[in-house]
Amino acid sequence: MARIPVSVIEEIKERTPIEDVVARYVTLKRAGSNLTANCPFHSERTPSFVVFPATQSFYCFGCGAGGDVVSFLMRIENLEYVDALRQLAERAGVSIPDSGERGDGVETVPRKRLFEMNRDAARYYRDQLFDESRGEATRRYLTERGLSQTVIKRFGLGFAPDDFGMSRHMKELGYTEKELVAGFLMKVSERSGKPYDLFRGRVMFPIIDVSGRVIAFGGRVMGDGEPKYLNSSDTPVFKKSKNLFALNYAKNNCADEMILCEGYMDVISLHGAGVENAVATLGTALTPEQARIMTKYTKRVIICYDSDAPGQRAASRAIDLLSEVGLDVKVLKLKGAKDPDEFIKKYGVDAFRDALAGSSGKFSHTLGTISSKYDENDPDARVKMIREVCEYIASIPGATEREIYINQASAALGVSVESIKNDVLLIINKNRKKRRRELPGEMLRNATGVGDRVNRDKLTHLRAASCEETVLGMLVGYPEYIADVASGRIKLSEDDFSTEFGRRAFSTICGIYGESGAFDIGALSEHMSPDEVSRLVKLSVDRSQLDNGRSIFEANVKALTDEKSRELAKSEDAFDAIRRMRETKNRGNT
Ligand code: CTP
Ligand code: MN
Repeated sequence: MARIPVSVIEEIKERTPIEDVVARYVTLKRAGSNLTANCPFHSERTPSFVVFPATQSFYCFGCGAGGDVVSFLMRIENLEYVDALRQLAERAGVSIPDSGERGDGVETVPRKRLFEMNRDAARYYRDQLFDESRGEATRRYLTERGLSQTVIKRFGLGFAPDDFGMSRHMKELGYTEKELVAGFLMKVSERSGKPYDLFRGRVMFPIIDVSGRVIAFGGRVMGDGEPKYLNSSDTPVFKKSKNLFALNYAKNNCADEMILCEGYMDVISLHGAGVENAVATLGTALTPEQARIMTKYTKRVIICYDSDAPGQRAASRAIDLLSEVGLDVKVLKLKGAKDPDEFIKKYGVDAFRDALAGSSGKFSHTLGTISSKYDENDPDARVKMIREVCEYIASIPGATEREIYINQASAALGVSVESIKNDVLLIINKNRKKRRRELPGEMLRNATGVGDRVNRDKLTHLRAASCEETVLGMLVGYPEYIADVASGRIKLSEDDFSTEFGRRAFSTICGIYGESGAFDIGALSEHMSPDEVSRLVKLSVDRSQLDNGRSIFEANVKALTDEKSRELAKSEDAFDAIRRMRETKNRGNT
């Protein structure tokens, strides 16, 4: 990734108040010195999303998203760090020097060049497909699969002959092997160390982003052969997890609903038949990012995965992901065909549209999944099955939703509404009692971070972890403390941290500062996951209201560096903590 000088980053950020950028996406309301809104990253009715102008950061107390203006733009526009910066730079009128070389000597190819390269490669593959003799077999293959000339052209399909013509052609156009490798069109052979053309003897499916640029390729063997599909790996212009096949077309036709399929061919067949709101993931299971992207374009997603068992399992996971981001979810399980492509060919598009209209809500899918596990004719199995359905309904928080599902389950299972309602209520009450019994445990887990996915070994280093988090939060919130650490005025090193998260966060923060002589929350995103960045921002937000900052900082650093306090911290393990919490609780009760 090309390095942008920190002075430039600082200038961009100085000229870009975070509140102005956020205000383009949500309606901000003033709350004291901060601003709040409904979170754009998860669906909610009461605002838990806060912008802190003083620290130029945001944090959502509901979903944990947080960061600075750059992280905000990265998340909401689904951009890489450098691209988010470039966009802000443009808006702020700051020019970014274009460096082609990065520090470690590996050549990086500017994104513009990669886009051009992909476009030229797509043209080459297309020309091969339409070459009278060379493309003949592939044209026949596609025609036999029911694709018209129009749809082949619309999707820019191509053919990669089983030779090294692509690289020869691209070199004639001036691309170097290094560039072709960076764009994943060539790959360095592990045996010979020489690059070779990656896609050979395949039908080529260009992957096109919402701006209409070719960003990657999928290539399918004709007939049988392994692997069936070969897909570009991630490159600076392509992230599998953040793109959807055919979204460039579907985005204009999906205001009401979008159809999510498994395969390229499904989507192409559907579009060819006039169903132009279909998309597919890119050779991986649906990701949370893709679900979030969909919310920008549509309200409802109809999952139309393959009808086999793996397809239906994947559908269950997709239901959860899509519901989590607030989309209305329906599921269409096709009968008499393995996937939408085959269905359309066998029964026609009208039958598909009928099936679409009859697609079931997510609860029907759940009902189907549960009942398929039990033998309908065995009364005992039926009892267990109904029990499982009731447990599922009982796990749903909303009373209205529960009531609707109770009625639906009653009709589907042939059991009276009363019986199901009673069973559901019994389970809810039982769960409540159980929760009450477990509550101290849950409090402990929250207090100690069990199940803390970000700081995983918090439980084994309780006290140390709490000091570490204070120190990290203050470093992020007050970069002047980083300067103190860097200059040695305050002695603190990576080894003083007990948790892996603490060590890594500390060395990353120092690394960013060391490289540039300044600190930039956004730069954390280059080295840490979005959840980790959010955690650090939350910590800094929590610690930013402290009056006597310096003494608290120093006390916590001391606790980490001082041998005796370290021993003390170590001596308190989870069991001591439980005891201590019980004691406090008992004292509170008397
Ligand atoms: N896929 C992949 N790599 C494979 C197999 C599948 O990346 N080896 C991805 C592709 O994106 C493919 C999707 O998973 O489109 C669904 O796979 P499958 O159902 O096997 O393929 P179809 O798209 O139905 O292709 P076809 O109809 O040509 O068999
Ligand atoms: Mn198929």
